Amino acid sequence: MNKTRAIALAFTLSALSSLSLAVVYVKGGEAQLEGALLGVALGGVSVGLILWAKRLMPHGPDTQARAVTPPQAAERPEAAEAFEEGAGRIGRRRFLGRMLAVAIGAFGVAAVVPIRSLGGRPDGLLSHTSWRRGSRAVTDDGNPVLAADLPVNTVLTVYPEGAPGSADSQTLLIRLPAGDYHPLPGRADWAPGDIVGFSKVCTHAGCPVGLYRADSQELYCPCHQSIFEVLEACRPSAGPATRPLPQLPLAVDADGYVIAQGDFPEPIGPGFWTREHK
Ligand code: FES
Repeated sequence: MNKTRAIALAFTLSALSSLSLAVVYVKGGEAQLEGALLGVALGGVSVGLILWAKRLMPHGPDTQARAVTPPQAAERPEAAEAFEEGAGRIGRRRFLGRMLAVAIGAFGVAAVVPIRSLGGRPDGLLSHTSWRRGSRAVTDDGNPVLAADLPVNTVLTVYPEGAPGSADSQTLLIRLPAGDYHPLPGRADWAPGDIVGFSKVCTHAGCPVGLYRADSQELYCPCHQSIFEVLEACRPSAGPATRPLPQLPLAVDADGYVIAQGDFPEPIGPGFWTREHK
């Protein structure tokens, strides 16, 4: 087979495989087929480049002695032939260059599809939960929580309305005995009727903090025994956790239901362990 044709064929095969790979991926994917197409796509470009380098690139020193005197008439046909051959070589290089660009471009198209399917950067996802200003607190079966119904010194796990069961939004509601709670500066209106809300996601390794000891008003994490002091804005007093559980600013709406004033003011859980606590 003609050398140029063989190289062009390798690049074409690579381009077709890349496009097929994109189609297979968009249609739901099939791991083995995707692997085979990826292999052909990369292999085609590699084979084409190797053939190009081996068969068409000049090898060895490319020097030629030149006569100092003007060429004789007898040498002109030879010179014209050499010139035409050079022009042909340039045209062939352009053609193969375009074919290579097509193969690489097609591979780029195929790569965009899986890269896009990875989704957005996780930063935003890790910084926010489903709590919004005015979100009603609901139990895991979707029932809103009336502030007046919350017994003193018990803990209730709640979620924002519309996202019951959401792992990152799960929040512990506790109504503290009247007068026990002394809010941190700037949080005076976060605990209507002495009801406080803290993220249930442990700041050590993300386990759900579920045990509440009413006599000492402490929350326990069952995984590595971190203890959080509820009356001190859930400061960790024992165990490996180093950050307090983030507090959810609460309010009570006109119908008496517990609502959020907004999202947690800081990321929940352990994802930001290198971050300074505000
Ligand atoms: S996950 Fe809570 S103490 Fe380790």
